[in-house]
Amino acid sequence: MSLPSRLPAVLQAVMQGQPRALADSHYPHWHHAPVTGLMNDPNGFVEFAGRYHLFYQWNPLACDHKFKCWGHWSSADLLHWQHEPLALMPDEEYDRNGCYSGSAVDNNGTLTLCYTGNVKFDDGGRTAWQCLATENVDSTFTKLGPVLPLPAGYTGHVRDPKVWQHDGRWYMVLGAQDLQKNGKVLLFSSADLQQWTSEGEIAGYGINALHDAGYMWECPDLFPLDDQHILICCPQGIPHEEQRYLNTYPAVWMAGEFDYTRATFNHGPLHELDAGFEFYAPQTMQTHDGRRLLVGWMGVPDGEEMHQPTLAHGWIHQMTCLRELEFIDGKLYQRPLRELTALRGEAQGWQETALPLAPMEIFLETASADEFSIDFGGALMLKHDASGIRLARRSLVGDETHYRYWQGDVRSLRIYIDRSSVEIFINDGEGVMSSRYFPTYPGQLIFNGSKPGAFCYWPLRPCMVE
Ligand code: FRU
Repeated sequence: MSLPSRLPAVLQAVMQGQPRALADSHYPHWHHAPVTGLMNDPNGFVEFAGRYHLFYQWNPLACDHKFKCWGHWSSADLLHWQHEPLALMPDEEYDRNGCYSGSAVDNNGTLTLCYTGNVKFDDGGRTAWQCLATENVDSTFTKLGPVLPLPAGYTGHVRDPKVWQHDGRWYMVLGAQDLQKNGKVLLFSSADLQQWTSEGEIAGYGINALHDAGYMWECPDLFPLDDQHILICCPQGIPHEEQRYLNTYPAVWMAGEFDYTRATFNHGPLHELDAGFEFYAPQTMQTHDGRRLLVGWMGVPDGEEMHQPTLAHGWIHQMTCLRELEFIDGKLYQRPLRELTALRGEAQGWQETALPLAPMEIFLETASADEFSIDFGGALMLKHDASGIRLARRSLVGDETHYRYWQGDVRSLRIYIDRSSVEIFINDGEGVMSSRYFPTYPGQLIFNGSKPGAFCYWPLRPCMVE
């Protein structure tokens, strides 16, 4: 049974909210962000019939984690995006508490969404349905309903289907929590996207000798890269370490051998995917020219998110920039999407110590022994020394300063700055630190310390969703 439509309220929220959000000095110039309300995970990232599609978890009605819809942008060139009709709204009994995260596939010429219908009960319990929806000629979607109920042996936390096709068969990984409250990744397979067969657990607690693996693994994504498979996911509850896993929840990657016939994934250790303050729920897709692209949510749930100043302007959160993945010498490299160079204005050498803070790309070469710092408008501070990079940021709630670390020999930095985000690519993508920051404008970018080798920057042109 369908629930009453909230579409009129959504329309009013967008009409009232969009002008306020776009006028905010922290609204991004060239990153994806919601025009009002709360955005979280990227969903359904796919290339389909010559266009790229990026869907997103979106509550257009308020800056909270309720009423999750799927918003939808599309693009011909990965740079210029346009709004598409709202794809999914929680308006059926089986998705009444949210159309949760998922993926998109090309099913014989039909763009098909695979998502989780989240249902919460009055007694605090919950269940989850894996559901499908297909695209109509006018770019709206028709829900086909649930195709997989909660599998036996798991709590109501089973979600975030990432679906792909291999040798004519469909495969799906799901994030899950077993009845002992351990995080797991489940594998299913299907001939037609409708009937699914369990292939068992492929990662999580107790598999590949993994302990301390947390209580819930969200947003898994399994894909080939070079001659390995990479599993990306977000294990909630793995222990914080002194200089690693410092966010409320991390996003990690592991590399290994995935065996389709045995349905096993023999993988190595977990690595943090991004060492910055905000990064979660990333999703990847393969382009026709063979690139594996990644986009993440530049946010983390359950931390200080509800104290971000953009809430006063009726919007919250943004995506990371799109990134290209490569696997080199056992490490997962993330590099800014090559198309982003089209946003560059004229290259400038950097002689001064201070610059007006504005969207820009900075490139510098350094030596491990060089000591320097970069102050991003007083709202974020980067310090480099022989141990690596340390980021410092004042808490949005109390007086303390929080730190994030990347340890290692730093040879170069490529820093992408937007109006309220900084993404730092270390050694051509060997490490990444993504963070939000909320400077007061006009602000200054101040460099202090030993002068790097090469040092230049490019102003970045605004490039918004049109
Ligand atoms: C990750 C997540 C997913 C869920 C979605 C709901 O941020 O919790 O597991 O599907 O957000 O918005």
